[in-house]
Amino acid sequence: MATINRYVGKVFHANALDLLRTMPVESVDAVIADPMYGVKALLYDWGTDPGDRDPRRHWAYHEPIYQECRRVLKPGGILAWAQGGKFFRHFGDWFGEHRVWTLTRFGENAHTAVGNMWTVQTRDQKPIEFPHRDSLVICTKPTELKRHHPCPKPVEEMAFMVEALTTPGQVVLDCFCGLGSTLVAAQQLGRLWIGCDLSRRYGRIALSRLAALQQAAAQERQGSRTGRCGTCGNHAHIKPTFLL
Ligand SMILES: C[S@@+](CC[C@H](N)C(=O)[O-])C[C@H]1O[C@@H](n2cnc3c(N)ncnc32)[C@H](O)[C@@H]1O
Repeated sequence: MATINRYVGKVFHANALDLLRTMPVESVDAVIADPMYGVKALLYDWGTDPGDRDPRRHWAYHEPIYQECRRVLKPGGILAWAQGGKFFRHFGDWFGEHRVWTLTRFGENAHTAVGNMWTVQTRDQKPIEFPHRDSLVICTKPTELKRHHPCPKPVEEMAFMVEALTTPGQVVLDCFCGLGSTLVAAQQLGRLWIGCDLSRRYGRIALSRLAALQQAAAQERQGSRTGRCGTCGNHAHIKPTFLL
């Protein structure tokens, strides 16, 4: 069986179930995953959400993946699973003991905040308490990302989750990574990451965002050695830019 190092720092174009089955047992520190919600007929690159607004169908699709996620988590490892609120009454049957974390997203120019749910627990289905801090996440609107995906998560929300649930150097898996906001947040916060999505195009976009981030960091390192921008040598200030 391959070691986890073979997977770290990669975005796989695969069915999460197939990928997870190849991964070593007890090898990742956290699964922070944003699967489909099943509550709307969202159209992805490869087709429509098969949950079809039916909780049974939704869970039949996701349960084997959830169980594989638990298998690859280390003892004490943490699972956070984004949810659509409409299936709230099923969470206990599906996940056993857990806490529902509700993050409140607030756009910089918005008037009201929008709630967003996560089921959070240990590998052994023990609930994880919400951190002792405000749940408000101020987000920039992911307008550009929305052109490529029906429901990209803001990096700010993913950064909240990654920071609350892991420590630097730990391995975070998002096996439904879409355009890669979890992976970008993990990279920014010094965590190791593994991504996977059914869509090759989403995965490529995720990789381009990560590559841009790594390039900006390399330029900043070079700049901090010389006191100048690593690209043009003229500017003392280097601003990371995303390809998207
Ligand atoms: C809610 S979206 C995730 C969005 C992501 N958090 C982002 O910021 O872009 C769910 C993703 O799961 C992917 N997906 C659905 N079924 C999958 C499967 N069996 N294996 C891998 N990816 C899957 C979809 O292609 C979609 O991109």
